[in-house]
Amino acid sequence: MFKEATLYSPVIRTENGHVSVLFAEEHPGRHDEAYQRHRARIAKLALDHVPGQPVPDVRYTDEEHELWRLVGAELREKHQRYACREFLDGARRLDLPTDRLPQLGEASARLTELTGFRFRPAAGIVEMRDFYGSLADGLFQATQYIRHCSMPRFSPEPDMIHEVVGHGSALANDRLAGIYLRVGEAARRAESREVLSALSRVFWFALEYGLVREDGEIRACGASLLSSVGELEQFREAADIRPLDAARMSALTYRVEDYQPVLFCADSFDDLEAFLDGFLDDVRRGAPTGAARG
Ligand SMILES: [Fe+2]
Repeated sequence: MFKEATLYSPVIRTENGHVSVLFAEEHPGRHDEAYQRHRARIAKLALDHVPGQPVPDVRYTDEEHELWRLVGAELREKHQRYACREFLDGARRLDLPTDRLPQLGEASARLTELTGFRFRPAAGIVEMRDFYGSLADGLFQATQYIRHCSMPRFSPEPDMIHEVVGHGSALANDRLAGIYLRVGEAARRAESREVLSALSRVFWFALEYGLVREDGEIRACGASLLSSVGELEQFREAADIRPLDAARMSALTYRVEDYQPVLFCADSFDDLEAFLDGFLDDVRRGAPTGAARG
């Protein structure tokens, strides 16, 4: 397992405009120079992108299209068994290509037709207030690269599989898109970093790793879980599954480089939505449960 990874590999641009991506020693692409150059080209496209302009196309390699076909097929099969209804509805409506990696721009156009959301390319990490706040404008800032082919089943970095399959499918469902929008509106109203940090942790445990009960079964509705073939196979047995609890979510340190040891489950999708709306009301009032005071 990929122990020393960071969530995003930092992107740097020198004064002469040269862009490079810095990989941790244990990143699977760390010693693959062609992959590093490819990632730097993709990062540069995002850095050069002008908001409001079309999302630039990336020239993906044959190996990357093959990776998408392989992982996409495994995920679709697992989604039927483990994904909640709202996510499955979004995936069906988004109707991503199965034979090739789509461009972020085409996925964005389809999303806009369905729920009004759109993708904007991000080179790497987006500052927390900017990322969550832009959801209020129906904008999801997404990376355009795909994980290294040597590690197809899990990526600690959010890649196209995570962004487009995970978040894209969620954003193509009206109820989930509405929740993302309300998260953005609450984030815009959050004044302190502590409140925003509590919001980001609840987002993590509810919309990246959240679970809901459906017809007596535990199903996943979180984008990270639903874009990880390996984690989908084992979360029901391996994770400590607890009831929704904003204070606990806000206080837990989450892990980005490994499977989640603790997950939170709502009694139903309605229950998840009501829980999040209650939490977002607290955020708007500036006093969410579990936010550090000071
Ligand atoms: Fe994500």
